[in-house]
Amino acid sequence: MKILNATKIKKIILKKNKLKIICLTAYSKNIAEILDNFTDIILIGDSLGSVLYNYNSTRDVSINTMIEHSRSARLGIKKSLMVVDMPYKTYRNKNEALKNARKIIKLTKCDAVKLEGGRSIIKIVEHLTKNNVHVMGHLGILPQSVKGKFVIKGKKISERKKIFNDAKLLESKGVFSIVLECIETSLAKQITKSLKIPTIGIGSSIYCDGQVLVTDDLLGINETKVKFVKKFGSIKKNIKNAIQKYKYEVINKKFPTKKYSY
Ligand code: KIV
Repeated sequence: MKILNATKIKKIILKKNKLKIICLTAYSKNIAEILDNFTDIILIGDSLGSVLYNYNSTRDVSINTMIEHSRSARLGIKKSLMVVDMPYKTYRNKNEALKNARKIIKLTKCDAVKLEGGRSIIKIVEHLTKNNVHVMGHLGILPQSVKGKFVIKGKKISERKKIFNDAKLLESKGVFSIVLECIETSLAKQITKSLKIPTIGIGSSIYCDGQVLVTDDLLGINETKVKFVKKFGSIKKNIKNAIQKYKYEVINKKFPTKKYSY
């Protein structure tokens, strides 16, 4: 299993400077199954807290909720690398992180986990990678730490330096890729150029090695007005049309006909 994961990860790293890396979120089997035909990485993101449960923050997502959604998504994922977010307060120290990462991997059969942060969690990241846990990093806006409004990262010189150094540090401790969330364009470009591992951008410009979006946002199922979300579909309209037709046929006794009855 570990060798299989390492091969998948190697293939993703080899795409750097050649082909863009496609990453999307999935919280369940049916969506994961569709995505798997197109993606390199499927992320079971703790964004499910706001998208599915209306939580104000991803801090309210529990490890059990992440595990249940991941188990469902796993059923639809055959070829993409499956990454699961470690939720808030599940990696406060090295031992807690390793215990919880192993639990997530064991119960969900995911290939890797994602943790938010740089220098402040570097010992934890190092402990995980040394213990053969594949880790994806996450810099820029860190939803598990944000209080209040989300603001673009990397405008101030001191902040730019910190994010850049965090990226280099994460790479040196063995993460296979880093999500850059809402990082100013020239900084995202600079980080991407100076790392050997791929960067996956969300609101961080075209210069990243790959892109990720929340699938419910791009499909137009989840209502959001965030700048970096482009709606590539309006699935809500299609769902409404189908439900309206169903209601009409039930009311007018057109469904179920003989064909749909035993
Ligand atoms: O939780 C999530 O879905 C994420 C992505 C948006 C990067 O972390």
